[in-house]
Amino acid sequence: MSVLTNSLLLLAWYAGHCELWTAWLNRVYANAWPRGRLDRWRRWHDGALLLGPPLLIGWIGLWQPGVLTGGDWLRMAFPWKIYAGCCAAGLASLVFHSICRRLRRRPRAVIGYDSQVHDLAARLGGRPIGKGRHQQMARLPCNQTFQLDITTRTIRLPGLAKEWDGFSIVQWTDLHLTGTVDRRWFETVVELTNQMEPDLAVCTGDLIDEMSLVDWLPETLGRIEARLARCFILGNHDWHYQPDRIRQVTTDDAGWTDVAGRCIALEHHGQRLEVAGTEWPWMGKHPELKPKSDGTFRLLLSHTPDNIGMAANQDVDLVLAGHNHGGQVCLPLIGPVYSPSRFGIRYASGDFQVDSTLMVVSRGLSGRHPMRFLCRPELTRIILQAS
Ligand SMILES: [Fe+2]
Repeated sequence: MSVLTNSLLLLAWYAGHCELWTAWLNRVYANAWPRGRLDRWRRWHDGALLLGPPLLIGWIGLWQPGVLTGGDWLRMAFPWKIYAGCCAAGLASLVFHSICRRLRRRPRAVIGYDSQVHDLAARLGGRPIGKGRHQQMARLPCNQTFQLDITTRTIRLPGLAKEWDGFSIVQWTDLHLTGTVDRRWFETVVELTNQMEPDLAVCTGDLIDEMSLVDWLPETLGRIEARLARCFILGNHDWHYQPDRIRQVTTDDAGWTDVAGRCIALEHHGQRLEVAGTEWPWMGKHPELKPKSDGTFRLLLSHTPDNIGMAANQDVDLVLAGHNHGGQVCLPLIGPVYSPSRFGIRYASGDFQVDSTLMVVSRGLSGRHPMRFLCRPELTRIILQAS
């Protein structure tokens, strides 16, 4: 084979190698482990990705069997053959899942979808970069961190009474306040949220990544207006900091209702709305949900979409989740690569149907690292339509 062919094969090998290590890291980060332990595993992943090219080019390409200098692949040592087979399987899985993702149709319950992109940086007269970490990253060209995609899904769920027609929910998730994305950006999102006049506002966690900014919550979340209620849960990043303090500020100072590990009942035009929340596996337990009475609309807030199985078993109508940020940086053709989930990139973002439960996974508003590529921040809006 020519040098060019062998170079391409080594490149494909490296792609499979990266896929294996990122798939493994995604599963590691789905666990409720201390940050130090997660960081340790992430350094193994970073090292493996960095070592890949010199190892493959130096060892396989130039030394033993030296495929870039006329060597025969068949003379490669047996352990390398095994690893090459694993990487080939990884690459095949990546290609297969990328194709499936592109071909996937929306669940039938989603009868309408609209996306409106707002360039909040242009609106604010420049990128609102504050004093937080990674400011240089926030300045990179093509970084979509300061844009906002307001997605509106009209959904029709089985058995939904006519009283629910037009009921609207706005979901905030994954604010990750670090100070790098300045408060003005979030205040603009508050304005846009209030213009939509939601019936219910929810927030599905990861509020804080810098504890000194907890005081921003009353000025941002606290100013969101919703006719019926504002309910929240926390996420894994909050758990890594001071969840009790974040919870207290969000309830006492911002005026939101904490639904973590429990279920509250609300009423809309005589119909019962149940809003439940789960922060599992990081905090608390799943809420105990009783058998659902006729006409009840049951909503679950879950930071991670990994709880979809529990939701489907508990007769939940709609799950709103975040956590995976849509991958945050997506590759052309391939899509998301990093998604801290037991299911890898399957639930990175989008809408999914499991039995009679619909789940919408938002890409979230921000991230610990202010970098987004082909993956704009998302403000999610749901409008119900009676069946
Ligand atoms: Fe997050």
